[in-house]
Amino acid sequence: MKIAIVGLGFVGLSLAAVLASKNKSIIGIDIDEKKCEKIRNITIPFYEPGLENILKTSLKKNNLIISNDFSLVKNCDMVFVTVGTPQKSNGQIELAMIKKSMTTIGKFLKKNNNKPIIFIKSTVIPGTIQNVIIPILEKNSGKKNNNGFGIISNPEFLQESNAIHNTKFPHAIVLGGEDTKFMKRAETFFSKMYSNVPIIKTNYQSAEMIKYANNSFLATKITFINQLSNICQNIPGSNIDDIARGIGLDPRIGKLFLNAGPGYGGSCLPKDMKALINFSESIGITPTLLNAVEKTNRDQINNIISLLKKKLGTLSGKKITILGTAFKPNTDDIRDSKSIELIKKLLKNNAKITVHDPKALGNTKKIFNQKIRYENLIVDALETSQCAIIMTHWSEYDKLNNKLLRKMKKKFIIDCRRVLADRKLDVQYYAIGLGKKI
Ligand code: UGA
Repeated sequence: MKIAIVGLGFVGLSLAAVLASKNKSIIGIDIDEKKCEKIRNITIPFYEPGLENILKTSLKKNNLIISNDFSLVKNCDMVFVTVGTPQKSNGQIELAMIKKSMTTIGKFLKKNNNKPIIFIKSTVIPGTIQNVIIPILEKNSGKKNNNGFGIISNPEFLQESNAIHNTKFPHAIVLGGEDTKFMKRAETFFSKMYSNVPIIKTNYQSAEMIKYANNSFLATKITFINQLSNICQNIPGSNIDDIARGIGLDPRIGKLFLNAGPGYGGSCLPKDMKALINFSESIGITPTLLNAVEKTNRDQINNIISLLKKKLGTLSGKKITILGTAFKPNTDDIRDSKSIELIKKLLKNNAKITVHDPKALGNTKKIFNQKIRYENLIVDALETSQCAIIMTHWSEYDKLNNKLLRKMKKKFIIDCRRVLADRKLDVQYYAIGLGKKI
């Protein structure tokens, strides 16, 4: 069986490498030949733990081909579409890439008769498969869905920085489409590959909505704990992590995604929240809760700025160190990172910024160039600083101690992740979610 994966970002490349490591014959296709060349040489364009190793093994085994040649889809039995659906300025998703891929795939389907299953893994608003994707494929292939090919919605739930593990061990498989021979083949494929993983079969719209429901629920859960953390900051002695542990043991709540911080970021949760809000409004529903989640998430950064102003007075000319620019640890991804938003706001206040991040300095430089200072060593990043703000919980920051902090001009720390909550440090210390010590 030959499988093509179209679009080699986090999702596509992780899937390609994992399927190839399970001895499937995989063709990874991306429009960008430079990116393909890099992948063939195992220079992955982003940092993802474990991906390099599994990719190396799969390429060595010769069951993974990486190419920009879309004609290779024509001999495949399955095609996974994993191209991006980025955010437009109005909050909607950009469908240009998926439309282009479907047009090209459709043209190649015209020339052969192997009736592939086409899995749509890209995140798309409910109705997109029915109203946009199927018509494009039918028009360009001259064939009918569920006859000449079978489209199935198959949303993805993997997390960056855990992509390989999540691809190997998904918590669920969602298959959206009609009950046809294509659906039966898909079910057999997934149940063999992932025995004991529940398969949810539903229609296109519900499968598309499951993805948005998942991400908007996670965003809401994080925002709930963030809101409580703000309340806790005004209850002397209280600790948001103890509260999270306490409620997390209730199986109806669950302990994950209760880690309070500066707000959710990344390339998915903010984008999917905006798209869902926009979609709800377009069909006449005012998403009151989702709007409140978005606003509360935005306010987290404003709260940090207010605290800074309260403690430092004007921020103009003040030297502030940002520890962590990646949107979470173990990635170099800074897309929609809360750190980047914070730095932009601090620069507007004319603060002088120095940043440290173990992996994301290169990407951070692409945004700020000479406007800020970049340091590879924590101790250098802290030199002459009047405040350090821990934004991302890199394990490196667990090691912060009085010696590393000695060169700070004003020993003042805002800890958005409570990394140093239990330390005895000679600093003025504020943490998101911790009430004043009593
Ligand atoms: C998210 C979802 O978790 C995945 O299930 C989904 O597949 C993916 O989006 C996607 O749609 O592609 P990801 O963007 O990799 O995954 O990031 P998360 O691990 O969900 O973290 C998102 C943000 O929430 C980060 O800024 C993180 O720091 C923050 N977060 C997360 C918290 O502040 N507290 C938490 O307890 C958890």
